[in-house]
Amino acid sequence: MARFGEVINPPEKEGKEKHVPVIEAPASVKAGESFQVTVTVGKDVPHPNTVEHHIKWIQVFVALEGRPYNPVHVTTFDVGPTFGDPKVTFPMKLEKKATLFALEYCNIHGVWENSVPVGVE
Ligand SMILES: [Fe+2]
Repeated sequence: MARFGEVINPPEKEGKEKHVPVIEAPASVKAGESFQVTVTVGKDVPHPNTVEHHIKWIQVFVALEGRPYNPVHVTTFDVGPTFGDPKVTFPMKLEKKATLFALEYCNIHGVWENSVPVGVE
């Protein structure tokens, strides 16, 4: 059986500059307190943003330390071409240390991923 994870483009793949979702999140947060996360696609090298070639969506999941079933969905942004930029900021909370995963979908170049750890005090 093929696994979906095998076809997700990793952060080091050719074309990464325009596709890897860059995650900006605190290295450590207080348990249960809201914090801001920003995910940007094409932060340093802008990705095309036309009907023919654009970033369609950004999704964020967390893998919580000690949870038997991961990942857990945090949020999904559906981005329209031309007028919508693939940069999103949202508030979230954590009770336990976690790894944040961002996925983005380019209608030409597929799904790309990135992740960052977030500690909880
Ligand atoms: Fe693309």
